[in-house]
Amino acid sequence: MITNENRSVVILGASGNLALTKLLPSLYTLYTSGALPQNFAISGYARTEMSVDKYREIVKTNLLNNIEETLLVDSFVQEFLKSIYYFSGSYDSVDDFTNLHAGLEKIHEKFPCKPTVLYYLSIPPSVFEPVIHSLRECGAIEKGDTSKSVIVEKPFGYDTESAKALNKTLDQTFDESQIYRIDHYLGKEAIMNLMVMRFANLIFEPVWNRNYIDSITVSWEEDKNIGSRGGYFDKAGIIRDVIQNHLLQILALVAMEKPSSYESDSIMAEKNKAVKSIQQVTLDDCVLGQYISGVCGGKPVIGYTDEDSVPDGSNRETFAKIKCAINNTRWSGVPFYLQAGKALTKSTTEIIIQFKEVPGDIFKSPHHPNKLVIEVQPDAGIKFFITNKVPGKGMVLKDVKLDFSYDDGFNKAMPGAYERLILDAIQGDKTLFINYEELIHSWEIFTPILEKIDSGNANVFKYHAGTNGPDEASEL
Ligand code: NDP
Ligand code: BG6
Repeated sequence: MITNENRSVVILGASGNLALTKLLPSLYTLYTSGALPQNFAISGYARTEMSVDKYREIVKTNLLNNIEETLLVDSFVQEFLKSIYYFSGSYDSVDDFTNLHAGLEKIHEKFPCKPTVLYYLSIPPSVFEPVIHSLRECGAIEKGDTSKSVIVEKPFGYDTESAKALNKTLDQTFDESQIYRIDHYLGKEAIMNLMVMRFANLIFEPVWNRNYIDSITVSWEEDKNIGSRGGYFDKAGIIRDVIQNHLLQILALVAMEKPSSYESDSIMAEKNKAVKSIQQVTLDDCVLGQYISGVCGGKPVIGYTDEDSVPDGSNRETFAKIKCAINNTRWSGVPFYLQAGKALTKSTTEIIIQFKEVPGDIFKSPHHPNKLVIEVQPDAGIKFFITNKVPGKGMVLKDVKLDFSYDDGFNKAMPGAYERLILDAIQGDKTLFINYEELIHSWEIFTPILEKIDSGNANVFKYHAGTNGPDEASEL
C-alpha cells in the first residue's frame, strides 16, 4: 500500500555483505510490492570511498544476483536506484556524521514534509558504540523523538556485561520506543507460524508439556565454511553467532505460555518468562567442535584454522550441541537440545518435538513414538510421524509421515525475513523484535560457558567438514 508519508532509511555499513545482499534487495522487493511510501530515500554510509553512481552500480549488481528474475523489471530497478544515495566517512568521526546529517537534510528537502528516519546499524559489533556516539554528537538524533529510530543487528554485545554496556550507550541516545533489536529468524514464515500452530489449533496444547514430550531439539546446520568471515567469527564462535540469538528465540517460542493477546507487549512478556526460566548451562551440558579439512557440498574445504581470516591455532568452536533445561511446571525434566554447526553435511534448520512412548503398548510389532518435525528451511513445512498398520495380514506396524509443505499448501513465494522486519520497523510494529530484558536473560544463560571457552578452558573436538559434527555430540 503506497502512502503519502515520507520515509528515509539510512544504512550504516552500506558497503557490507548484509546491506548489499539482504537489506537493499529486501527494500527493492518492498518497493515493487508498493509497500514503501511514495516519498522515500535510502542512504548508505560506510568508510569505503565511492561516488553515488558507483554505489548505485554495486547495488544494481547485487539486486540482479539476489532477487528472483520475475521481480527484476528494468524500469522499477532504475526508479529504485534513483532513490539511493551514498556517503563515506569514519564511524567514530563526529565531523563525518555532521556531513552525513547535512547531506540527508538536503535529500529530505525534496520531500513535501520532513520524513521519518530509520537508521540501520549493519556494521560489525565492534563499531556499534562509536556509531551511536557519532549519531548523537552530530545532532541527528534527539532522545524521545520517535520520528527517528534505529535497528540494531545481532550480536548485541558479546556477553551479559557488554550487552548491558551497549544498551547504556543506546539509552543515552534513544528512547526504548526508538530501538528495534533485530533477529531476522523472527521474520521467517515458519518461525512466525509457531505461535499460530500452537495457539490456533486445539490438538497441541493438551500434549505440549512434560507429560507427553520426551525431548525437543532445535537444529541448525550450514554446509558452508567460514571463508572470509573469520575476523568476526573467531571472536564470536557458533554459540554467539547463532545459538544465543536465533536458536534461543526459537526455543522461547516453542516453550512460552500463551500470551493474553497477539500484541507486542503480551508476547514479549511471555517470551521473557520462558527465557528467564532457562537454567544457566555448564560445560558438562555442551559438546563443542571445530571443523578440519573435508568435503562440503561436493567441494574440498580447508580446516577452520587454515582459513586466511582465522588466527593460527585458534580453538574457537564452529559446532556446539547444548542441553538446556527449563525450570517450570510445563517443562521440568524435558531436555531441550540446541545444536548448530558450520561446514556440516547440509544447510537446514528444524525443530524436532519427540513425544514419549505410548504407556502399556499392546502391539508386538516394533514402532517408534510420535514425532513432530517443523522444518524452517530450506523447504518450510511440518511433518508428523505416526504409527500405522501396514495393510494386509497380521498386525505389522510402520511409522508413516503426514507431510505439509508451504510450497504445496500455499503455492506462493515466501516473503524474506528482512523484508518483513524492515517494513515492521518502518511502520513502528515491535512485535517481532527483541526487548532488552529478554536479551539480558539470553546472555546470562551462556555467559559462564563463553568465558571458559574464550579463555581456552573447554574441550573442542575436531570433526571433518561435510560430516554431522564431532562423534561425541551423539553421547550428550
Ligand atoms: P561486514 O563484515 O560485511 O561489515 C559491514 C561493513 O562494515 C563493511 O562493509 C565495512 O565497511 C565495515 N567494517 C567491516 N569490518 C570493520 C571493522 N573491523 N571496523 C569498522 N568497520 C568495519 O558485515 P555484514 O554486512 O556481514 O554484517 C553486518 C552486521 O549484521 C553484523 O553485526 C552481523 O553480525 C550482522 N548480520 C549479518 C548477517 C549476514 O548475512 N551478513 C546476518 C545477520 C546478522 P567499510 O569498510 O566500507 O566501512
Ligand atoms: C547470521 C549468522 O546471523 O545468520 C551467519 O551470522 C549465518 O553465520 C546466518 O550464516 C544464517 O542466516 P539464514 O537466514 O541464512 O539461515
